[in-house]
Amino acid sequence: MDQKLKGQIAIVTGASSGIGAGVSNSLAAAGATVVVNHPVAATKDAAEAVLTEIKNAGGAGITYQCDVSKEDEVQKMFADVVAQFGTVDILVNNAGLQDDSPFQEMTLQKWNHVIGINLTGQFLCAREAIREFLRRGPAPERSRATGKIICMSSVHEEIPWAGHVNYATSKGGIMMMMKSIAQEFAPMKIRVNSIGPGAIKTPINHSAWATPAAEKTLLELIPYNRVGVVEDIGAAAVWLASDDSDYVTGITLFVDGGMTLYPGFSTNG
Ligand code: BGC
Repeated sequence: MDQKLKGQIAIVTGASSGIGAGVSNSLAAAGATVVVNHPVAATKDAAEAVLTEIKNAGGAGITYQCDVSKEDEVQKMFADVVAQFGTVDILVNNAGLQDDSPFQEMTLQKWNHVIGINLTGQFLCAREAIREFLRRGPAPERSRATGKIICMSSVHEEIPWAGHVNYATSKGGIMMMMKSIAQEFAPMKIRVNSIGPGAIKTPINHSAWATPAAEKTLLELIPYNRVGVVEDIGAAAVWLASDDSDYVTGITLFVDGGMTLYPGFSTNG
């Protein structure tokens, strides 16, 4: 593969499974040294397995345990990565989860759990990344941009989702946070964008595609008629992190097989 990210340091949060693992592999294949972040001791083995895959493919990186919803842990992660590698060039703000419930039964704990990781976690990591980009300044030998942040959003930053109000709210918040940071730091040549995945085959939505019957129902929402795979998101992340997208900031790139085209309207309305 083309080494478009050669010599760059990337932190990918929530990288021990799913989209984060896939994005880590893709960034490493493009030449980045990847910090494979995972949240707790119990996810260490999974993160190590991702790192082994990266290394077997000729890439480089480390694993790093840090709960992105905790300010002190996030600050320590960035300080340690800068101490070890000199700087950070790319942040992929990926860590996120669902903790679903009918709205009338949603506890404050469930609300705070999802907002704390999906939205506050992205804020904390983005703030440390911006601080590092400003401290380091331009590095034109590695990239035209002084730094790049990619926020993992969802089609649900746009599509309301009954039974998932905490999750959809976190993604709507990510959209406005991403755009506001992008506006604030474009003059400093820092690019901030989101990826809006549709249905991608990962553990988070396993029940939605695990059986042929479930997959058939899911495909009714996807005009392109296939469920996505993590490589679809990895390719988008490499593009948004590389100089190929140097004039792109403040957008959400939907990678969703047309889910945001509201396919129900093709035969109705
Ligand atoms: C959710 C998945 C869901 C997809 C499409 C994602 O953001 O995490 O569970 O399948 O959106 O609805």
